[in-house]
Amino acid sequence: GGPIPFHGPHQAGIATPVQDRLHFAAFDLGTDSPAKAAELMREWTAAAVRMTAGQEIGGGATGAELAPPDDTGEALELPASRLTLTVGFGPSFFERLGLPAPDRLKELPRFPADKLDPARSGGDICVQACADDPQVAVHAVRNLARIAFGTASVRWSQLGFGKTSSTTPQAQTPRNLMGFKDGTRNIAGTDRAALDAHVWVGGEGPEWLRGGSYLVARRIRMHIETWDRTSLKEQEDIFGRTKREGAPYGAAREHDPVPLDKLPADAHVRLAHPDSLGGATILRRGYSFTDGSDGLGRLEAGLFFLAYQRDPEKGFIPIQRALAARDPLNEYIQHVGSGIWACPGGVTPGSFWGETLF
Ligand code: HEM
Repeated sequence: GGPIPFHGPHQAGIATPVQDRLHFAAFDLGTDSPAKAAELMREWTAAAVRMTAGQEIGGGATGAELAPPDDTGEALELPASRLTLTVGFGPSFFERLGLPAPDRLKELPRFPADKLDPARSGGDICVQACADDPQVAVHAVRNLARIAFGTASVRWSQLGFGKTSSTTPQAQTPRNLMGFKDGTRNIAGTDRAALDAHVWVGGEGPEWLRGGSYLVARRIRMHIETWDRTSLKEQEDIFGRTKREGAPYGAAREHDPVPLDKLPADAHVRLAHPDSLGGATILRRGYSFTDGSDGLGRLEAGLFFLAYQRDPEKGFIPIQRALAARDPLNEYIQHVGSGIWACPGGVTPGSFWGETLF
């Protein structure tokens, strides 16, 4: 596809159509100077403007013979591949720099059965790179890491494939690694009213965050082999939807309204539905991952869950509380990584990520 505009009222990569591939990276600052962090954002923004347009950064991939090239070069000749780069700042970012954190940016509570690995959790800054070509997404994160040398370094990163949610409801709903359609009832990228109500931070947030959003990431490992020995009936009961069509129990088609009382009392979809939770709503934008196998012959696979919301207390937190307590899916999954970041509003030409924060 053609390039997705970098500039606009919101950062690209949230409500824009979901691409096929992900490279997500969390960075830690090596400085406590807000001026240095701002300079990094300025340099990153300049590079992001070029990379999302399919262009080489800085002086390009070839230049002065005696210096390392500004651009590492592996995306030469490749199209922009709908690359989007979306940036967020975690609670530790504000602590380290001595800047006021937005009210709603707090470390997530611990949920029952969480088994979080610190080496795959947190991070001062996150970068979500999505593109239709993995080489383009990896090139983008690699070049941002190169630019950050001396100011910030990668803490952990995650590759993802096979988007598990779409923001384009007219398109075929993608399937997750459990084989179920995922993202059926998601916020559409064109539904401005729902985005304003549930995704974009409004006047309640500081200026730099207006039009931005809070991002929660969870690395959710799936016990694929156990799942694969589970009967179709049990699989469908767990979600409260059929496998092939994706229709909710009590309805015929995928996009029919969910008759909540026809679903098992603890079905995933029933527990997570806004009507069960006083309206709690998120925009899901996750990806599947498979990082080879785990040394015990099991696939090291799962869902890299990404959720955007205007207020985590009215989004991820109450939903995950309900799921952690009762979801029968918990027998087949485990949350092993976690992070929360405040993603600034959109960037206008000439400005940079989070400019008015510094
Ligand atoms: C719905 C799978 C984790 C929130 C669904 C659906 C599937 C699914 C198949 C039905 C289709 C749809 O409407 O998208 C999974 C799997 C997970 C997982 C395999 C873990 C590996 C989570 C988590 C949350 C969540 C951690 C949030 C805390 C939701 C919501 C819905 C949903 C809000 C839509 C409910 C509705 O409005 O009908 N999920 N999910 N899911 N899931 Fe999950």
